[in-house]
Amino acid sequence: MLFSTDVEKLSQAEAQEELAALAALLARANVAYHGQDDPIMTDAQFDALRRRNTQIEARFPELIHAQSPSLQVGAPAADGFSKAKHAVAMLSLSNAFDPADVEEFDTRIRRYLGLDAQQALAYTAEPKIDGLSLSLRYEDGRLVLAATRGDGSTGENVTANARTIGDIPHQLSNAPAVLEVRGEVYMSHQDFAALNQRQDAAGGKTFANPRNAAAGSLRQLDATITRARPLRFFAYAWGALSEPLAKTQMGAIARLEAFGFKVNPLTKLCDGPDELISHYNKIDEMRADLGYDIDGVVYKVDALDLQARLGFRSTTPRWAIAHKFAAELAWTRLEAIDIQVGRTGALSPVARLAPVTVGGVVVSNATLHNEDYIAGRDSKGAAIRDGKDIRVGDWVQVYRAGDVIPKIADVDLGKRPAGAAPFVFPAQCPQCGSDAIRDEGDAVRRCLGGMACPAQAVEKLKHFVSRGAFDIDGLGAKQVEQFHADGWIREPADIFELRARYGSGLQQLKNREGWGDKSATKLFDAIDAKRNIPLARLIFALGMRHVGQAASGLLALHYGSWEHLCKSVDQAQDRGGESWQDLIGVDGVGAVLAGSLVASMTQPAERAAIDRLVRHLDIETATQPDTQNSPVAGKTVVFTGTLERMTRAEAKARAERLGAKVAGSVSAKTDILIAGPGAGSKAKKAADLGVKTLDEDAWLALIEGL
Ligand code: IVH
Repeated sequence: MLFSTDVEKLSQAEAQEELAALAALLARANVAYHGQDDPIMTDAQFDALRRRNTQIEARFPELIHAQSPSLQVGAPAADGFSKAKHAVAMLSLSNAFDPADVEEFDTRIRRYLGLDAQQALAYTAEPKIDGLSLSLRYEDGRLVLAATRGDGSTGENVTANARTIGDIPHQLSNAPAVLEVRGEVYMSHQDFAALNQRQDAAGGKTFANPRNAAAGSLRQLDATITRARPLRFFAYAWGALSEPLAKTQMGAIARLEAFGFKVNPLTKLCDGPDELISHYNKIDEMRADLGYDIDGVVYKVDALDLQARLGFRSTTPRWAIAHKFAAELAWTRLEAIDIQVGRTGALSPVARLAPVTVGGVVVSNATLHNEDYIAGRDSKGAAIRDGKDIRVGDWVQVYRAGDVIPKIADVDLGKRPAGAAPFVFPAQCPQCGSDAIRDEGDAVRRCLGGMACPAQAVEKLKHFVSRGAFDIDGLGAKQVEQFHADGWIREPADIFELRARYGSGLQQLKNREGWGDKSATKLFDAIDAKRNIPLARLIFALGMRHVGQAASGLLALHYGSWEHLCKSVDQAQDRGGESWQDLIGVDGVGAVLAGSLVASMTQPAERAAIDRLVRHLDIETATQPDTQNSPVAGKTVVFTGTLERMTRAEAKARAERLGAKVAGSVSAKTDILIAGPGAGSKAKKAADLGVKTLDEDAWLALIEGL
């Protein structure tokens, strides 16, 4: 497939085809961005495609063609403005994406200049402003021409518009006879928001971001409109000069500032890659508070004589590079909404996205939570995203918060394709066709198929063999999927029949990738080793909704044996009698959990499957702990802070098994406070009251072996 094959694996014909497609796509993107101020892809996508183009060309230099994106800058001037030819071409910058790229930039330059690693080589580092570049020509100190970049050699004459920008002086004193000042026109966040508000109130066009607003405002044929737009300008470079400005980049920037231009205050002289990267990190941290958009940090060789020696490649200087920030928000197209069916039958909608880089990671899926979320409502029916629903074909904004699954932040209704229909959430399970029901007050729709639903069955089986459950060596999620697909394992009981059914005909298993005599026998042995199972693990392994590890432990302790549990659950079906009361009376078991337990275990098909499983097992009864020897029996303990070696529920269950009473707050009655990292007011109160405080390790040492 195009764009996805490893560059190393491309044949020449494939490379040629892909380069042609990339050239066409990038050319379209360029026109949309520069010519129409209305991008069809994000900067991150554009960069990724350009990088791909460069990589392919590096491998197949013979395929570089005249239209190659690596030889183009920007887009031709749009009609409407007169053309202005640049005396010195306006170039773009090559990109660095990580510290290794920055090291390589330094190495490349040293090699080119014949400097060894010990010799000093200074660079400047400054924010890369996300606006549009502008070249200002001053003759005898008077502004005579302002031109956009255009295609790099010819831009648009926007002199009248540029004169309306406050940061751009009309007259300079003591300037060289010819001076072309280059820099970035941009709009601050505050001005951008106010402009959009005014536009909205007046029924005019609003802008997607400050860059588009700046570009749209500068490229107005009527300069009085530009005047009404709050544009700003940072100077950072120069074109034609009748005499040099200084010996260094820093010196030249200081001259520009002295002429009255705004220069960026975060420009810093650095002694090498390490310092560049630390300044990059500092700027990245300040980014949200700058009040204007930047999309990276630009590094330049400081000495201007060295810049001159280094010179240019076709479209970029050798002496500078832009170290880009990873985008944390990105727009992309929603291609499909898939429904996944989980272990408990929950139907979870998943957004399938056109791949996009978000925070440096390519994202192609995002969670859509549930049907209300898609419809633009929260669980209480209140509007989210201003009530905008999400439809297949929409442009959506994706974000990643921490390490969690990507989410969708926003929808661009302006880009909604004609005919895009509201998403209809299925009322039947897409995997098995059973009815999918949404209980009152529940945000989630669930498939009623149980183990008859293949999706639920596989997820249940994966849970069954997972770590807190049967934890069978060599039987993980991947193997379960494979065995289920082959029809070898349909329900948990089948796992324990594998040896009997397929062991003699090991041949079948052996023929499969990754399986031999030894590994198959090992697997069967690992399964046999788990026939003996503690009651709590068995309950947890059944994967009933709401019945987690802690609750399983409590139930095991309360009922002691499997037989007793089954009998009691059967009797609790009336949800009112003594057994029911006894069940919901178990500390930590509420009516919701109890209801789920009873419903699952008394559902005939599910119960039959459980019975088939249990025949293969030797279930260890749960005994009340030996509280006589327990040092914490009868003591009141409180947990606070982060526990690192167990969950809070596990800690609580274990303490209770040892006869301790677990309380939620510290008082004079508290005997022990177990405080993990981040403990706050409870630890302080315990200290004030003189309550004994242990860390998690000390607590575990105290109860060890019990
Ligand atoms: S230096 C010869 N410095 O980024 C190269 N460019 O991707 C001169 N930009 O076309 C450019 N901030 O529009 C330079 N501090 C900065 C910049 C900057 C933004 C823009 C500029 C350039 C583009 C390259």
